[in-house]
Amino acid sequence: MSLEEMKGLHLQGEYIKPETKEVNGILMTKIVSDKWDKIWNFQAKPDDLLIATYVKSGTTWTQEIVDMIQNDGDVQKCQRANTFERHPFIEWTLPPPFSSGLDLAQKMPSPRTLKTHLPVQLVPPSFWKENVKIIYVARNAKDCLVSYYHFSKMLKMLPDPGTWEEYVETFKAGKVVWGAWYDHVKGWWGVKDQHRILYLFYEDMKEDPKREIQKILKFLEKDITEEVLNKIIYHTSFDVMKQNPMANYTTLPPSIMDHSISPFMRKGMPGDWKNYFTVAQNEEFDKDYQKKMAGSTLTFRTEI
Ligand code: A3P
Repeated sequence: MSLEEMKGLHLQGEYIKPETKEVNGILMTKIVSDKWDKIWNFQAKPDDLLIATYVKSGTTWTQEIVDMIQNDGDVQKCQRANTFERHPFIEWTLPPPFSSGLDLAQKMPSPRTLKTHLPVQLVPPSFWKENVKIIYVARNAKDCLVSYYHFSKMLKMLPDPGTWEEYVETFKAGKVVWGAWYDHVKGWWGVKDQHRILYLFYEDMKEDPKREIQKILKFLEKDITEEVLNKIIYHTSFDVMKQNPMANYTTLPPSIMDHSISPFMRKGMPGDWKNYFTVAQNEEFDKDYQKKMAGSTLTFRTEI
C-alpha cells in the first residue's frame, strides 16, 4: 500500500487515522493484522538477536548500544543506515520507498539483530524453536504512557490518542496498539528464566549505563576495552543520540513522523510523568495498577 493510498483511506482532518484490527485479542494496526500469517511464520535463525520491548521503553537506545557493541565502538559503521534499516522491525511496514521489516530481515545477511514490540504470546514460534537470544527492556508504566501519548500524535501511523484525559483511560484499558503495558511486561517477565532472555529496565540504564551495558556485553559474550565501553556510553547518551540522524528518526518525512509535534528524542528522563498526571489521575492510576500487577514479583521505579 502506498503512502498516498494510506492517506486516501485514512486521512481525516490533520490525521491519517489508521484502522486497527485485533490479532488474538491484541490491538494492532490493520496493516500488521492483515499480514499476520506472514509475521507468525517468520523464520528466525539461531544466530539472530531479538530486541523486544513494549512501545516507548528505550528500544532505539538499546538498538544503538547493541549496534555499537557489535561494531566494536565504530561510530561510522553505526551510521551506515537508519536504526529501522539496521535492525528490521519484524511486524512493521512503513510506506514505500521503505521496505517492510519482514522484507528487510529476509534480505539481511546473518547475524541479524531484529526488533519487535510484540507481546510474548505473539512472538513467532521460530524464535523459541531456534533458541534465539532476546534482550527485553521494560520501562515504568507512567513514563511509557506519557511517551506513548506524544508518540501517537507525531507518528501518523498510530491512532490519534485523543485528549490527555482520554488517553490515560485508553492506556489503562490496554486499548492501545500492541496491547496492554501490564500484560506485556508481566508476560515477558514470566518466561525470562525459561529462555535466553536478558530482562533490563530503562530506569537502570539511565541510572548506570555502564553497569547495564556490561550486562549486555556478558549476555552477548563480547569483550571490549574500557576505552570502547566509554565511547559506547557517550555515543548512546540521550544528548548525542538526539543529534544523530541515523538514530533519531528525523530522516522519515513529516507525513510519517512529525517531529514538530513532538520530537522522537523527546525527554529521555524517568519521572517526566509528574509533569502530566494530576494528583487525582495519579491516585486512580496507582489504584488500578495495584490490581493489574497484583501477585507479580515485577517491580518498577517511577523515578531515579
Ligand atoms: P521519551 O518520550 O520519554 O523522551 P523507543 O525507542 O522504545 O520508542 O523509546 C523512546 C523513548 O526512549 C523516548 O522517551 C526517547 O526520548 C527515549 N530515548 C531514546 N534514546 C534515549 C537515550 N539514549 N537515553 C535515554 N532515553 C532515550
